[in-house]
Parts: sequence; C-alpha cells; structure tokens
Amino acid sequence: MFKDTVSGKGVHIMDDFTTLDRKNTGAAKWDMARKRLGRDDVLVFSVADSDYETPKEVKAALQRRVRHGAYGYTLAGEAYHDAVMDFMERRYGLATERDWILPAPKVLTALALIIRAVTDKGAKILIQSPVYNNFPPLAEASDRTLVKSSLKREDGRFVMDYADLEKKFAAGVEVMVLCSPHNPVGRVWTRAELERLIELCKQYDVYLLSDEIHADIIMEGHTFISAGEFFADHDRLAVVTAPSKTFNIAGLHSANIIIKDESLRDKTKKTMRGLFIGAPNLLAMEALKAAYTECDYWVDHQNAHVKDNYERLVSAFRRWHEDVFVASLEGTYLAWVDVSVFGLTGKQAAERLAEEGVVVADGGVYGEEGRDYLRINLACSKEQLEEGLARMEKVFGDI
Ligand SMILES: Cc1ncc(COP(=O)(O)O)c(C=O)c1O
Repeated sequence: MFKDTVSGKGVHIMDDFTTLDRKNTGAAKWDMARKRLGRDDVLVFSVADSDYETPKEVKAALQRRVRHGAYGYTLAGEAYHDAVMDFMERRYGLATERDWILPAPKVLTALALIIRAVTDKGAKILIQSPVYNNFPPLAEASDRTLVKSSLKREDGRFVMDYADLEKKFAAGVEVMVLCSPHNPVGRVWTRAELERLIELCKQYDVYLLSDEIHADIIMEGHTFISAGEFFADHDRLAVVTAPSKTFNIAGLHSANIIIKDESLRDKTKKTMRGLFIGAPNLLAMEALKAAYTECDYWVDHQNAHVKDNYERLVSAFRRWHEDVFVASLEGTYLAWVDVSVFGLTGKQAAERLAEEGVVVADGGVYGEEGRDYLRINLACSKEQLEEGLARMEKVFGDI
C-alpha cells in the first residue's frame, strides 16, 4: 500500500513498473537505436520517452472510445477544460480560468506558434543552454535569431545567469523560452528564481514562454512552481503543459496552452486559426482526461520509481569514480552526468557505450555547455536500468 499524496488515502499497490517491449511498434526511441547500431539487443536510455506502461485508467479510456466506432470531428468540450483546471489546481495549487486554456496538439507546436504570433522575422529568441535540442529550431526554423544564455554550475547545481540574461534582454530579446523543470539539468526552479526572472522579463518587455512538459515528474523534497503563478505580475506570459511525458502518451499528441492576458491569447488564437491548429485528436483527449482525473496515485508512484532508479545510477557512478558529478535530480526523469572525470567527453563516452549496446544521449547535443556530459533516461524498469549499468561498468569501471 502506498499513499496518494493528494487524497491522502491508501491506494492499491500496483505491480512494480516494468519496461514494455516496444519492438515492432515503431517506437522512435528504440527503432532508431536498433537501426543505428545494427543490433537487436540494444538498451536505450536516450530519447525523453518513457518505457513504462501507461496507467490502466488511460488504457481503459482509450479502449472505451475505440469500441464506440465513430471517430468524426470532436469538440474538446467542458470536460477537457475541467480536467486541466482541476489538475493544475490540485497538483500545483494554480488557479486558472476556463477561457485561459487552449488545447493544442504538441508543446513544440504551441511554442512555435506563439513565437510567430508575437514576433516578426529576425526577432531575438532566447534559450538557456544546455537545453532540450528542439529549442534552437524554434528560432532558427522560423527565421528568428537564436540567442543563448548559459546556465552556470554553482556549488553543485545549475543556476540562471541573471546578469547575462539582463545584458541580452537589454540588447533586444523579444521572447524567452524557459524549460521548467529543466531538461537536461534536472532543476526545478524555485519561486525566488522565477520571481527574479519574471521581474527581468517585465522590466524589458520580454515574452516568457514556460515549457512545463516535465512539471509532474518532481522528486520528493522539491515543489514545482508554475510560471502561471505570476500571471498577475506579467502580461507577456504563456505556460504550456502536457500529459505526454508523465503518462507515456507522447505518441498521441496533446498539449495545453495557458494564457491569462486577453491580448496575448487573441494573438495566439488568431495564429492557430490561420494554421488550422486546434484541439488534439479525440483519442488524445480521452487519454488526457483520464490521466488528469484518475491517475494522481500513479504519478506519485512513478516519481518514487524514478528517484529510486536515479539513486541506483548515482551509486554505480560513485563506485566507478568517487569524484564524479551527477546533477542532483529535482525533476524530470533525466540524469545529467559529467563524464570528464573518466577522461572522456560526452560524445566519446556515448560512442564507447554504444559498443556495449547501450544508447545514451551525448550532452553536447543540448549545447556546447553539455559537451562533458551524458543525459541518461531513467524512466524504465529497475531490471533494464541494472542491465544497462552492468554494461556501462565495462566502460566506466575500467578507466
Ligand atoms: C522540454 C521539452 N519540451 C517539449 C518536448 C516535446 O513535446 P511535444 O512532443 O509535445 O512537442 C520535449 C520532449 O522531450 C521536452 O523535453
């Protein structure tokens, strides 16, 4: 029995999280790795996609809808808005209103369209590096100008460089895309950190787009603060959330845009109308509603499982080198490991691991600042992680 942190009630213990065999399902994460390495027995810890089976409530909702048989045009409906609003309030204490929420198919689509809604070609778009590798194209593929501000590693944790942000804001940045929690460094930004950032955005009229796709994957002892808490302080603010990472439904495509300011919302809606981007498909909607209304207990359990996997990984790396730096995991299911103590760059380490049939992400993919790091996805069964660590030992254990 474990406790549902929201209701406080005991809920049934479920089978431990197992890794689903995703062979022959077109799983991007697994198929790309198998093809690249030309072997079938690869273990993949790269793409930020989980291998856990989605909660049974989500599967049941999908099965019910599929059984119905008619899949015509479908409205998002009141139940969609209720599910998002209740989830945000229950999980993060964030009160929103129905009108503020716009359903969208993907987080990246949402970010890309808001950038188009509020800027012209050439506009400066700032991201904090290292960061999710699909952030740079948000600027580059829309003929905007990418501006980077490096995160700083200070006292064993990554922090924002406010002086650098201010310098770049003053030089004409129009939009900042925030990754919150941060992929790949695993930070959950504190209220004080966000407050300071919002102040700067306000001072320089910068639009802040907060990508909160990892918001539910929070480790014990940390509290997620949505940028939405600052809606009253800064009009130029949009929050984008999604159930995709948390519930392993990224292949269904769904996201939520949350904007309080009417003028920003209208511009966003107009861009969506012009591109005919609306609510996600009906199956995604069914999955989202079940995920947001019935699965809090599962999210808590998943977070505990990720934390346990993280601890296993840290103790293995410490065994291989007592001075190794593994970023403290506050949120996300992604570990960020500095492999320079082994005399390797992230790229070299990833290549050596590939020879052992293990695929991890070279940190350099997330920006030059990540070149000494590996990003290792922890959202898998303990068995898969242990097998991966045994293979990793052949590379790091011998150095
Ligand atoms: C920070 C971040 N944003 C967005 C995405 C992708 O979201 P979507 O598939 O909804 O566009 C990912 C996926 O890894 C991510 O890590």
